[in-house]
Order: sequence, then structure tokens, then C-alpha cells
Amino acid sequence: MTTKDATSNLRELQAQAMSELGALRDLSHLEEWRVSYLGRKGKLTQTLRSLGEIPPEQRREAGMAGNEAKQALEIAYGLRLKELEEAALAAKLQQERLDITLPGWPVLSGSLHPTTSIVREVCAAFATMGFQVVEGPEVELDGYNFEKLNIPKDHPARDMWNTLWVDHTDANGGRPMLLRTHTSPMQARIMEKTKPPVRVVVPGKCYRYEATDATHEWHFTQVEGLAVDKGITLADLKGTLYEFARILFGQDRKVRFRCDYFPFVEPGAEMSMDCFLCEGKGCRVCKHTGWIEILGAGMVHPKVLEGVGYDSNTYTGFAFGMGMERMAMLKHGIEDIRLFYANDLRFLKQF
Ligand code: DAH
Repeated sequence: MTTKDATSNLRELQAQAMSELGALRDLSHLEEWRVSYLGRKGKLTQTLRSLGEIPPEQRREAGMAGNEAKQALEIAYGLRLKELEEAALAAKLQQERLDITLPGWPVLSGSLHPTTSIVREVCAAFATMGFQVVEGPEVELDGYNFEKLNIPKDHPARDMWNTLWVDHTDANGGRPMLLRTHTSPMQARIMEKTKPPVRVVVPGKCYRYEATDATHEWHFTQVEGLAVDKGITLADLKGTLYEFARILFGQDRKVRFRCDYFPFVEPGAEMSMDCFLCEGKGCRVCKHTGWIEILGAGMVHPKVLEGVGYDSNTYTGFAFGMGMERMAMLKHGIEDIRLFYANDLRFLKQF
């Protein structure tokens, strides 16, 4: 074989290999191509080997062509390999593709419980008048729930509260404990810890041994209020609660105070406001009276003040307490208090 023949063979081989390489469509064919040209028994390898048959002094041209062919095919192979790998990856991604334009599953978002909302609203209304929000224990000592509120043992006023006693009393030196029947016990707890002036509202859960019906639950929520300072009068009580009714139920509200009895206030009162629905004409919400009773209140009883070490000749105060579920029932026209704690989403979702 002459060096010329060998050179042209090599060029031909290179051209053929290149055109085959260009036509290849996948990696397994590429591998076959590599073996068939560049492999140990491949066409190029063998051709290069056969150059040994050319006399050394004539070999130069063919040798150069051989090197050139080998380099060209190796580079082209590398490029094609990369190309086909990328194409394979792209095809795989296409096949396993996630359609991110599909709408996702909606995340269920909760909302505030109607009691929570009304508690926040009520506390915020009193906050505008300088009242601080504090909380107290739900399992309470008899002393705070009753005695310090001027309800001694065997006092007939105890009959107003259907009480849930707690068996375990050891932790408090045998002093009887109960699930608090109202938030009023915080009156004494606050005053024992603070010097006047005191101005607080106390939201919290209360419990009573109660047969449930549309307006009674054994568990409910109250907000208690207490203001004590020098020179506080019934006029302050009326002004504060009047303002409160207007913040919560509208600027046109009128309020009415009538005598009522609570052992820890003197005088005691219940406050009603004119019906926000019929404006006092009479409707279902106000049971055709034109008035809706919303809270109990009064001037703090001197015995309560003295009981916590306040001088009742120097200090006076007022207190009030109201039911939050009742307040929410009025606002939203809810007819059964039992709905609040039945965990029925059809009800709860409406707020
Ligand atoms: N604690 C009373 C109850 O649960 C409500 C109440 C009435 C609270 C008059 C007061 C008040 O502070 O002055 O029925």
C-alpha cells in the first residue's frame, strides 16, 4: 500500500465516519459507532495499524492523515456524546414532567371562633378607655370564687351558682376548689396584688353545673371588669358601660340601668340596651320588650374592698360582668348557645 492510497483511505474513512455520526439518533447507536471506528478492532484503529506496512520514509503523509482522522473522530465523538446525552435527559424530563400549571390542593385555613372574636372585640373596646386585659385561673379556690366576694358559706347567694367542685384539694392545704363559676374572683386577686388605681378587664372561661338548653351551657365565657380609684362614682360606671355599648352595637344605642342583686356590689344593677335590631320597637331578638339585658354591674361592695386591704373610705370602684356567647348571639342572631361548642364546621365556618 502506498502512502497516497493510505491517506485517501483514511480521508474516506473519516468522511464516512463523520456522516454516520451525524445521522446517529441515540446513545446505544453512538456506542456501536465508537466500537466500530475507534474501538480496539475498529476500522480506524486497524487502518492506523496497517500503516506499519508502508516503508517508514514514506509514511509521513499517511501518518499525519491518520492522526488527524483519529483526533477529528474523537473530538466529534465527544461532542456528539454530549449532544445525545442532553437530548436523552431532555426527553426524560419531558416524560416525567410535572404540570405545575394544574391548580394545587387548596390549603384549608381556619378562622377565629366566634367567642374568641367577640372577646377580642370587647377587650379592645375597654382598652380604648384605659382598661388592661388580665387573665386568671379556671380552677379556683372557694375563697376567691365566693368568700372574698361577700358570699360566705351557707349564704343563700351561693344558690345562684350551680357549682362544679374539684375533688383534689390537697395541693392547697385542703382548701376547697372548684371550676370558677364566674370571672369575678379575679377582682380580689388583682386588688391583692395591686395598689389603686385599678382598671382591668378579665376575659375567661367559666363553668356551672347546668342542664343545657338554648340559652344555658355548662361551660361559657365571661368578661369581668373592675375599676377602683379615689372618687369613682356610679356616674363613671354608667358612662363607661354606655360608651362600651355604643362601640360594640352602634352609636345610636341607649342604655337602661335597673336594680339587681349581686353580693359583691352595692348598689347592684343590670344593664340593658335598646334593641339594635328593631331600635326599641319590639322584635324577636328583644322578645318584644325593646330592651336587651347585656350585663350585671354595680359599685364594689365595701366588704370586698376591705377584704383585700383597701380602705373603703378612701377608695370606691365599680365592677361588671357579661357573657360573651350571649353577646355574640345578639350580634350574629345565633339562636342556640350549644352551637358554640358542638364543633360543627357548618356553624363555625360562618364567622
Ligand atoms: N359574676 C356575675 C355572674 O356571673 C356577673 C357580675 C355581676 C359581675 C355584677 C360583676 C358585677 O362584676 O358587678 O353572674
